[in-house]
Amino acid sequence: MAIKTEDLTELSSIISTGVKSYLSHVPTPPTLRPTPPVPVTDEVAIEAREQLLQACRKMISLIEGPMEPAMGMAMAFHETTALRLAYDMKLAHNVPLDGSPIALAELATKTGAPEETIVRVMRALTFKGVFAETAPGYFAHTSSSAAMGIPGIESMIGHCINEVFPSSPHVSDILRENNFEPPQDSRKSAFTRAFNTNKGFFEYIYTDDKPMGTRFGQAMTAVSDARGHLNLVTVYEPLLSAPKGTTLVDIGGGIGHIAIAAAQKFPNLKCVVQDIGIVVNEGRGELPEELKHRVEFQENDFFKEQPIGGPGVYYYFRNIFHDHPDPACREILSHIANAMDSSSRILLDECILDERVGPEGDRVSIVKDYLMLVMFNSKERTETQWAALLKSADERLVIEKVWKAKNRSTGIIEVRLA
Ligand SMILES: C[S@@+](CC[C@H](N)C(=O)[O-])C[C@H]1O[C@@H](n2cnc3c(N)ncnc32)[C@H](O)[C@@H]1O
Repeated sequence: MAIKTEDLTELSSIISTGVKSYLSHVPTPPTLRPTPPVPVTDEVAIEAREQLLQACRKMISLIEGPMEPAMGMAMAFHETTALRLAYDMKLAHNVPLDGSPIALAELATKTGAPEETIVRVMRALTFKGVFAETAPGYFAHTSSSAAMGIPGIESMIGHCINEVFPSSPHVSDILRENNFEPPQDSRKSAFTRAFNTNKGFFEYIYTDDKPMGTRFGQAMTAVSDARGHLNLVTVYEPLLSAPKGTTLVDIGGGIGHIAIAAAQKFPNLKCVVQDIGIVVNEGRGELPEELKHRVEFQENDFFKEQPIGGPGVYYYFRNIFHDHPDPACREILSHIANAMDSSSRILLDECILDERVGPEGDRVSIVKDYLMLVMFNSKERTETQWAALLKSADERLVIEKVWKAKNRSTGIIEVRLA
């Protein structure tokens, strides 16, 4: 719900009510001390959190005054630079994880970086609550700096600062050259210009830079786990009553982390994970023994014909279409439409952007929309944009229902043939 008031006293009362509601619905009060991240899953806590963040943002802009918000955005890349330096110096690994402080001189010896550089980086990071100075010249972890050292989160930060950050400045040139419309080809993106390649990101990580690909895979898995919410197993109810042997094809399913969760939750389900060769080989190697009869891996390029057809098949795509401009999405969808009958379903597990823009927007979706632009010339979509995309791929593709938990930015769009 949008907070309309500009009155500081009213905002502080919204914040105080929100804090009470939040604290009574989370298992433990939040702390800045290093503790493992616990996703907030209680619906009341999620709602209170959204309201609190919105009210706090509004309060900060009111108190900062007119100059700060836009100026702050103009300078925000310096924060990313500081974080990248911290990542390169491995600060998160060299500060004790138990929360005890380390002396600056010792940190300099361990990292091999000069004390002055460490202090400059720490000045920017501690300002945001990432690390803390416990006494002059002593630094300790906070909960967010400790999270930087968790392997998957470290991979996500590594992907953002090493691939997305250097690509991002090219967006303005690419759009300016094309009347501010993103080219409908992901091989002409800010990423491809920054990395001086004519390959799209996925082709690049699977051929030219495999470590980059491994890190990206780890990052994707970590982001799923950190959010602690898998739409396929939490909101999509029809799978609960699926007949024995129902097939779910997880297209672009990576190493199978979602298919595995689905097979564990729905005993009647048979899952086929499709992806490109090296990814399915990795997934096959890590598949738990007890699921081998119900989860299989199949190499398949989603730009080619879909080999699995028949009645009642679910074609599941998670975070696939946001990686592609509309023409490529149409190509992928048309192969599925050709394999479907009236009882099969496409399930799009993706971000569903708010139609309205404004301070009540979801920060993660806004950031992801830009990330897609930088890396692929693609985008996150509103429900209206999803419906238009489906129709333009095949006139018969219609949305049956959107399955979305309250206060979530992602959901499952169930699609059938009309
Ligand atoms: C953003 S990841 C999403 C992975 C997984 N669905 C998830 O939500 O965690 C995109 C996936 O699409 C796969 N992919 C990219 N191009 C592909 C293609 N042409 N055919 C099949 N899979 C592809 C990638 O290997 C990667 O696993």
